[in-house]
Amino acid sequence: MQNNTFSTLFVGQNLIKLLEVDSTSSYLKNLTSKSEPLPEGTVIMAENQFAGRGQQENIWHTEAGKNLTFSLLLKPKFLAITKQFYLNMAVSSAIYKSMRNFLPTNLTVKWPNDIFYQNKKLGGILIENAIVGNVIKNSIIGIGLNINQQKFPSVIAKKAISAYQILQQDVNLEELLVDICSNLESNYLQLKTGNYTFLKQAYVDKLYKSNIRSFFRQNGEIFEGIIKGVTDTGLLEVERKEKITTYNFKEIEFLNHL
Ligand code: BTN
Repeated sequence: MQNNTFSTLFVGQNLIKLLEVDSTSSYLKNLTSKSEPLPEGTVIMAENQFAGRGQQENIWHTEAGKNLTFSLLLKPKFLAITKQFYLNMAVSSAIYKSMRNFLPTNLTVKWPNDIFYQNKKLGGILIENAIVGNVIKNSIIGIGLNINQQKFPSVIAKKAISAYQILQQDVNLEELLVDICSNLESNYLQLKTGNYTFLKQAYVDKLYKSNIRSFFRQNGEIFEGIIKGVTDTGLLEVERKEKITTYNFKEIEFLNHL
Protein backbone atom coordinates (compact mmCIF):
# COMPACT_ATOMS: atom_id res chain seq x y z
CA MET A 1 0.00 0.00 0.00
CA GLN A 2 1.44 3.41 -0.93
CA ASN A 3 0.96 6.02 1.73
CA ASN A 4 1.24 9.59 0.55
CA THR A 5 1.10 11.35 3.90
CA PHE A 6 4.71 10.23 4.38
CA SER A 7 7.33 12.58 3.00
CA THR A 8 10.02 9.96 3.52
CA LEU A 9 11.99 8.09 0.86
CA PHE A 10 11.17 4.64 2.21
CA VAL A 11 10.33 4.48 5.93
CA GLY A 12 6.55 4.08 6.18
CA GLN A 13 5.98 4.08 2.40
CA ASN A 14 4.70 0.52 2.69
CA LEU A 15 2.36 0.87 5.66
CA ILE A 16 0.22 -2.07 6.73
CA LYS A 17 -2.44 -1.17 9.29
CA LEU A 18 -4.00 -3.97 11.28
CA LEU A 19 -6.99 -3.78 13.59
CA GLU A 20 -5.69 -6.54 15.81
CA VAL A 21 -2.62 -8.75 15.98
CA ASP A 22 -0.68 -10.70 18.62
CA SER A 23 2.49 -8.67 18.07
CA THR A 24 3.42 -6.36 15.18
CA SER A 25 7.03 -7.58 15.48
CA SER A 26 6.04 -11.25 15.26
CA TYR A 27 3.76 -10.46 12.31
CA LEU A 28 6.57 -8.63 10.50
CA LYS A 29 9.08 -11.38 11.27
CA ASN A 30 6.67 -13.88 9.77
CA LEU A 31 6.25 -11.76 6.62
CA THR A 32 10.03 -11.53 6.13
CA SER A 33 10.25 -15.31 6.08
CA LYS A 34 7.91 -15.52 3.05
CA SER A 35 9.46 -15.90 -0.40
CA GLU A 36 8.38 -12.45 -1.69
CA PRO A 37 10.92 -9.92 -0.26
CA LEU A 38 9.38 -7.07 1.71
CA PRO A 39 10.58 -3.55 0.95
CA GLU A 40 12.91 -1.93 3.46
CA GLY A 41 10.99 0.63 5.48
CA THR A 42 7.81 -1.47 5.70
CA VAL A 43 5.81 -0.52 8.81
CA ILE A 44 3.23 -2.74 10.50
CA MET A 45 0.97 -0.80 12.82
CA ALA A 46 -1.80 -2.27 14.97
CA GLU A 47 -4.71 -0.69 16.81
CA ASN A 48 -4.74 -3.57 19.22
CA GLN A 49 -1.86 -5.81 20.09
CA PHE A 50 -2.93 -8.58 22.45
CA ALA A 51 0.40 -10.36 23.01
CA GLY A 52 2.95 -7.57 22.69
CA ARG A 53 6.53 -8.56 23.43
CA GLY A 54 9.03 -6.50 25.39
CA GLN A 55 12.72 -6.85 26.20
CA GLN A 56 13.84 -9.82 28.26
CA GLU A 57 10.70 -11.84 27.46
CA ASN A 58 8.48 -9.25 29.16
CA ILE A 59 4.91 -8.61 28.04
CA TRP A 60 4.14 -5.22 26.52
CA HIS A 61 0.75 -4.01 27.83
CA THR A 62 -1.23 -1.52 25.76
CA GLU A 63 -4.86 -0.40 25.66
CA ALA A 64 -6.54 -0.93 22.27
CA GLY A 65 -6.72 2.17 20.06
CA LYS A 66 -4.96 4.45 22.54
CA ASN A 67 -1.26 4.06 21.86
CA LEU A 68 1.33 3.66 19.12
CA THR A 69 2.39 0.06 18.58
CA PHE A 70 4.29 -0.57 15.39
CA SER A 71 7.25 -2.39 13.90
CA LEU A 72 9.61 -1.27 11.15
CA LEU A 73 11.72 -3.39 8.82
CA LEU A 74 15.26 -2.20 8.12
CA LYS A 75 18.00 -4.00 6.19
CA PRO A 76 21.24 -2.56 7.57
CA LYS A 77 23.57 -4.84 5.61
CA PHE A 78 26.16 -2.04 5.62
CA LEU A 79 26.43 -2.04 9.42
CA ALA A 80 29.22 -4.04 11.08
CA ILE A 81 27.85 -6.37 13.75
CA THR A 82 30.20 -4.77 16.29
CA LYS A 83 28.42 -1.48 15.58
CA GLN A 84 24.83 -2.75 15.89
CA PHE A 85 24.21 -0.71 19.03
CA TYR A 86 24.34 2.37 16.79
CA LEU A 87 20.98 1.27 15.45
CA ASN A 88 19.59 1.48 19.00
CA MET A 89 21.09 4.94 19.33
CA ALA A 90 19.63 6.09 15.99
CA VAL A 91 16.15 4.77 16.83
CA SER A 92 16.03 6.08 20.42
CA SER A 93 17.17 9.57 19.41
CA ALA A 94 14.64 9.71 16.57
CA ILE A 95 11.76 8.83 18.87
CA TYR A 96 12.98 11.24 21.51
CA LYS A 97 13.02 14.04 18.91
CA SER A 98 9.43 13.38 17.84
CA MET A 99 8.14 13.13 21.43
CA ARG A 100 10.01 16.28 22.46
CA ASN A 101 7.92 18.24 19.90
CA PHE A 102 4.94 18.10 22.22
CA LEU A 103 6.32 17.10 25.62
CA PRO A 104 8.16 19.34 28.05
CA THR A 105 11.73 18.73 29.26
CA ASN A 106 12.21 15.78 31.66
CA LEU A 107 12.14 13.48 28.67
CA THR A 108 15.18 11.16 28.50
CA VAL A 109 16.39 7.90 26.99
CA LYS A 110 17.05 5.35 29.68
CA TRP A 111 19.89 3.09 28.64
CA PRO A 112 19.74 1.04 26.58
CA ASN A 113 16.56 2.20 24.85
CA ASP A 114 13.59 3.12 26.99
CA ILE A 115 11.87 6.45 26.56
CA PHE A 116 11.44 7.95 30.00
CA TYR A 117 9.54 10.90 31.43
CA GLN A 118 10.91 11.78 34.84
CA ASN A 119 11.22 8.36 36.52
CA LYS A 120 8.53 6.57 34.50
CA LYS A 121 8.50 4.65 31.26
CA LEU A 122 6.76 6.34 28.35
CA GLY A 123 7.88 3.93 25.70
CA GLY A 124 10.00 0.95 24.82
CA ILE A 125 11.92 -0.33 21.84
CA LEU A 126 12.60 -3.94 20.94
CA ILE A 127 15.24 -4.43 18.23
CA GLU A 128 15.58 -7.92 16.80
CA ASN A 129 18.41 -8.43 14.32
CA ALA A 130 18.56 -11.41 11.98
CA ILE A 131 22.30 -11.97 11.45
CA VAL A 132 23.49 -14.11 8.55
CA GLY A 133 27.25 -14.66 8.47
CA ASN A 134 28.72 -11.26 9.26
CA VAL A 135 25.75 -9.30 8.02
CA ILE A 136 22.60 -7.91 9.63
CA LYS A 137 20.14 -9.14 7.03
CA ASN A 138 16.98 -7.80 8.64
CA SER A 139 16.32 -5.68 11.66
CA ILE A 140 12.84 -5.57 13.13
CA ILE A 141 12.40 -2.43 15.19
CA GLY A 142 9.37 -2.78 17.48
CA ILE A 143 8.20 0.45 19.07
CA GLY A 144 5.57 0.86 21.77
CA LEU A 145 4.70 4.35 23.01
CA ASN A 146 2.14 5.18 25.70
CA ILE A 147 0.26 8.07 24.18
CA ASN A 148 -3.46 8.46 24.91
CA GLN A 149 -3.94 5.81 27.59
CA GLN A 150 -5.43 7.43 30.70
CA LYS A 151 -4.91 4.62 33.22
CA PHE A 152 -2.58 1.64 33.46
CA PRO A 153 -3.26 -1.74 35.06
CA SER A 154 -2.11 -1.78 38.68
CA VAL A 155 0.88 -4.06 37.92
CA ILE A 156 2.54 -1.32 35.87
CA ALA A 157 0.79 1.85 37.10
CA LYS A 158 3.75 2.92 39.26
CA LYS A 159 6.29 2.47 36.47
CA ALA A 160 4.41 3.62 33.34
CA ILE A 161 3.26 7.02 32.13
CA SER A 162 1.52 8.28 28.99
CA ALA A 163 1.60 11.53 27.06
CA TYR A 164 -2.05 12.02 28.06
CA GLN A 165 -1.15 11.84 31.75
CA ILE A 166 1.47 14.54 31.20
CA LEU A 167 -0.54 16.85 28.91
CA GLN A 168 -4.15 16.08 29.90
CA GLN A 169 -5.01 15.95 26.21
CA ASP A 170 -4.87 13.49 23.34
CA VAL A 171 -2.14 13.41 20.70
CA ASN A 172 -2.89 12.49 17.07
CA LEU A 173 -1.41 9.02 16.59
CA GLU A 174 -1.15 9.14 12.78
CA GLU A 175 0.68 12.47 12.79
CA LEU A 176 3.06 11.20 15.43
CA LEU A 177 3.77 8.05 13.41
CA VAL A 178 4.54 10.14 10.31
CA ASP A 179 6.94 12.35 12.26
CA ILE A 180 8.71 9.39 13.91
CA CYS A 181 9.15 7.71 10.52
CA SER A 182 10.72 10.86 9.14
CA ASN A 183 13.16 11.18 12.08
CA LEU A 184 13.94 7.46 11.93
CA GLU A 185 14.79 7.69 8.26
CA SER A 186 16.98 10.72 8.79
CA ASN A 187 18.98 9.02 11.59
CA TYR A 188 19.18 5.79 9.61
CA LEU A 189 20.69 7.71 6.68
CA GLN A 190 23.24 9.20 9.11
CA LEU A 191 24.09 5.64 10.13
CA LYS A 192 24.43 4.62 6.50
CA THR A 193 26.91 7.42 5.84
CA GLY A 194 28.91 6.35 8.91
CA ASN A 195 28.20 9.45 10.98
CA TYR A 196 28.81 7.59 14.24
CA THR A 197 30.05 10.60 16.18
CA PHE A 198 26.82 12.49 15.51
CA LEU A 199 24.63 9.53 16.49
CA LYS A 200 26.51 8.78 19.69
CA GLN A 201 26.49 12.41 20.78
CA ALA A 202 22.77 12.74 20.04
CA TYR A 203 22.10 9.62 22.16
CA VAL A 204 24.42 10.41 25.07
CA ASP A 205 23.00 13.95 25.33
CA LYS A 206 19.58 12.49 26.17
CA LEU A 207 20.65 9.77 28.60
CA TYR A 208 18.63 9.35 31.79
CA LYS A 209 20.67 10.21 34.92
CA SER A 210 23.65 11.22 32.81
CA ASN A 211 26.24 13.13 34.89
CA ILE A 212 24.06 12.79 37.99
CA ARG A 213 25.32 10.89 41.04
CA SER A 214 22.95 7.89 41.28
CA PHE A 215 22.58 4.53 42.94
CA PHE A 216 22.84 1.20 41.13
CA ARG A 217 22.80 -2.47 42.08
CA GLN A 218 25.10 -5.18 40.75
CA ASN A 219 24.96 -8.75 42.07
CA GLY A 220 23.09 -7.57 45.19
CA GLU A 221 25.65 -4.85 45.92
CA ILE A 222 24.43 -1.23 45.94
CA PHE A 223 26.89 1.39 44.78
CA GLU A 224 26.98 5.05 43.83
CA GLY A 225 28.20 6.15 40.44
CA ILE A 226 27.77 8.66 37.63
CA ILE A 227 26.70 7.71 34.09
CA LYS A 228 29.22 9.10 31.63
CA GLY A 229 28.21 7.53 28.31
CA VAL A 230 28.18 4.30 26.34
CA THR A 231 30.80 2.33 24.43
CA ASP A 232 30.48 1.57 20.71
CA THR A 233 29.11 -1.85 21.60
CA GLY A 234 26.47 -0.38 23.90
CA LEU A 235 28.00 -0.97 27.33
CA LEU A 236 27.06 1.65 29.92
CA GLU A 237 29.99 3.70 31.20
CA VAL A 238 29.69 4.53 34.89
CA GLU A 239 32.22 6.53 36.85
CA ARG A 240 32.83 4.80 40.15
CA LYS A 241 35.50 5.95 42.56
CA GLU A 242 36.98 8.17 39.82
CA LYS A 243 37.34 5.21 37.46
CA ILE A 244 35.12 4.33 34.46
CA THR A 245 33.59 0.85 34.66
CA THR A 246 31.47 -0.61 31.83
CA TYR A 247 28.36 -2.75 32.27
CA ASN A 248 26.17 -4.77 30.00
CA PHE A 249 22.38 -4.78 30.13
CA LYS A 250 21.89 -7.65 32.55
CA GLU A 251 24.70 -6.64 34.90
CA ILE A 252 23.36 -3.44 36.40
CA GLU A 253 20.09 -2.17 37.79
CA PHE A 254 19.09 1.46 38.36
CA LEU A 255 17.74 2.26 41.83
CA ASN A 256 15.38 5.19 41.38
CA HIS A 257 14.11 5.40 44.89
CA LEU A 258 17.46 6.02 46.63
C1 BTN B 1 10.40 -2.92 26.05
O1 BTN B 1 10.38 -3.93 26.73
O2 BTN B 1 10.61 -1.83 26.56
C2 BTN B 1 10.19 -2.99 24.57
C3 BTN B 1 8.74 -2.89 24.23
C4 BTN B 1 8.47 -2.96 22.75
C5 BTN B 1 7.00 -3.03 22.46
C6 BTN B 1 6.69 -2.92 21.00
S1 BTN B 1 5.00 -2.64 20.67
C7 BTN B 1 5.24 -2.92 18.97
C8 BTN B 1 6.22 -4.06 18.86
N1 BTN B 1 5.54 -5.33 18.90
C9 BTN B 1 5.85 -6.04 19.98
O3 BTN B 1 5.38 -7.16 20.26
N2 BTN B 1 6.72 -5.37 20.71
C10 BTN B 1 7.08 -4.11 20.13
